[in-house]
Amino acid sequence: MCGIFAYAGNDNCTKVIIDGLKSLEYRGYDSWGIALRTKDKITLRKNVGKVSEINELESVDADMGIGHTRWATHGNVTVENSHPHSDSEKRVYVVHNGIIENVKELKEYVPGDVFYSKTDTEIIPKLIARFMESSSFPDAVKKVVGMLKGNFAFVAIAKNSEYLIAARNGSPIVAAKHNQNFYISSDLQSLTPYSETALFIDDGELLIYDSQSHAIEFYDFINNKRIQKEAQTYDVNFMNCDRGSYKHFMLKEIFEQPEKLKATFDVNVVNGEIRFHYAIDPSQFKHVQRIVIIACGTSWHAGLVAEYWFESLVKIPVEVEYASEFRYRNPVIDRNTLIIAISQSGETADTIAGIKEAKKNGAQVLSICNVPGSTITRISDATVYTQAGPEIGVASTKAFTTQLEVLFLLTLMIAHYRNKINDTELKNYLDHLVQIPEKMNKVLINTEQIISIMQTHYIVSNALFLGRGVNYPIALEGALKLKEISYIHAEGYPAAEMKHGPIALIDRNMPTVFICIKDHSYDKVLSNIEEVKARDGIVIAVANDEDQRIGELADHVVFIPETIVELSPFLTVVPLQLLAYHIADKRGCNIDKPRNLAKSVTVE
Ligand code: G6P
Repeated sequence: MCGIFAYAGNDNCTKVIIDGLKSLEYRGYDSWGIALRTKDKITLRKNVGKVSEINELESVDADMGIGHTRWATHGNVTVENSHPHSDSEKRVYVVHNGIIENVKELKEYVPGDVFYSKTDTEIIPKLIARFMESSSFPDAVKKVVGMLKGNFAFVAIAKNSEYLIAARNGSPIVAAKHNQNFYISSDLQSLTPYSETALFIDDGELLIYDSQSHAIEFYDFINNKRIQKEAQTYDVNFMNCDRGSYKHFMLKEIFEQPEKLKATFDVNVVNGEIRFHYAIDPSQFKHVQRIVIIACGTSWHAGLVAEYWFESLVKIPVEVEYASEFRYRNPVIDRNTLIIAISQSGETADTIAGIKEAKKNGAQVLSICNVPGSTITRISDATVYTQAGPEIGVASTKAFTTQLEVLFLLTLMIAHYRNKINDTELKNYLDHLVQIPEKMNKVLINTEQIISIMQTHYIVSNALFLGRGVNYPIALEGALKLKEISYIHAEGYPAAEMKHGPIALIDRNMPTVFICIKDHSYDKVLSNIEEVKARDGIVIAVANDEDQRIGELADHVVFIPETIVELSPFLTVVPLQLLAYHIADKRGCNIDKPRNLAKSVTVE
């Protein structure tokens, strides 16, 4: 949440920082600000609204600066609350992500100081400035970081000081150096134009950059000692992204799904054998007696689908937990528990904390992640990468389906290793999986029906999404997509649960979206559809090609090609993504940056 970009060097500082912030805007877009340091003063500019809306900003002849794009946590969206923040004398400026939890106690160290914002950030520059009365700028920062409680990443500059200083405790921050230019960002992606190597700052560390000598010092502020760190290479190609001719990133990402699924398959399946890129040996799963999947948001829905797969094919118990609950629940886990952490960004605060909790209890953690070099990939025992490429739209689409694919491959790998499926069955499943991209393309080119549903129903205020079995999580995902980007209230339920509450809401103004494919519960879902129709409800169905019974019952049907039941989520989710997209577009919503949301949730 929130984006930080800082720069020191000879290029046009204003432009470098604004460009950096624009590339980070998917992290937060309530307001923005920059502080630029010239020889003897610091110039501050900030405003509410999006960085992308800045047309022209007069350049300041600065050699160093810090910038921020905000997703409000403490204090409304106002100019006063936007970052950077400073001390009253305007000597120190700070941009900050995360939450400082002990602000009240810390205020006692700066008695009499006036606070101009409602943020938890303003205390940081005030404390640094106070300590600078008797210490150097770096020493003052070292003292302050030890006093802060909570998750944070911040970057600080000071008037008349050559240092650019970054600190991390729980929120991502990374740096890069290229010749005499130095960059710091909350996101590796925004550093790719500048360097192919990165300096990863870990929790409990400070990075102090001397812009005169270009020296870099890493400091462990937990153990109070200097440490040595080298720059590391990372996959620059991953980071390239461009909206092309699509109206929104989300639409582009929906249409990219077949290609990304194929890429994920090709990387991980070699000559009919599942071989994960990052060399996970199936024997690692020998002692696993239980799987616990932790994730948030859409990634959690991917975990719920996988629960069906693991239990039916591997036949071991699986629990799927919201990472935010898991981390505080004193979960019962041991060395025979495999933790699977799923995250697109690899930076979700609760998922990171869940992994740490699991490792503390001796569990092995396998993560499924989309972003190379992200925190989750660095703290997990092993990572399998989805090959979705950068996902910019806040509402996750291609990351979700590629997560599903990795999870299905993992299921097959473990099931095969444990002799729950034989060679022929493995081959059969892979044969079906390899056909999914082509079938998905058929759903994608046939959007007429979705557009017509959108035109009739885009004005509704509520919607219900129902599915059963492996498509129950897809109902949840369909509801999430609609509410995230169109602001229509939507709920997902297992279809049979409808009778235990949601049916009370049904009338002509609340459409019910049924996922009704030809599986063992097909007839039961048909009965649920009848029940909705009997109450004058509107039924939108996602059904298999040539299903005439549905055609007679439902008000609208989106047909999808047949596949085996296990793999149906890959196809049933696509019409729901498209429906949410077209409804949100018709309602004039800001699809790629929906209000109040952020792509990467780095606060708990
Ligand atoms: C946010 C995003 C969602 C995402 C969730 C989990 O809410 O808007 O799209 O599913 O975080 O993020 P992760 O990066 O861990 O998958």
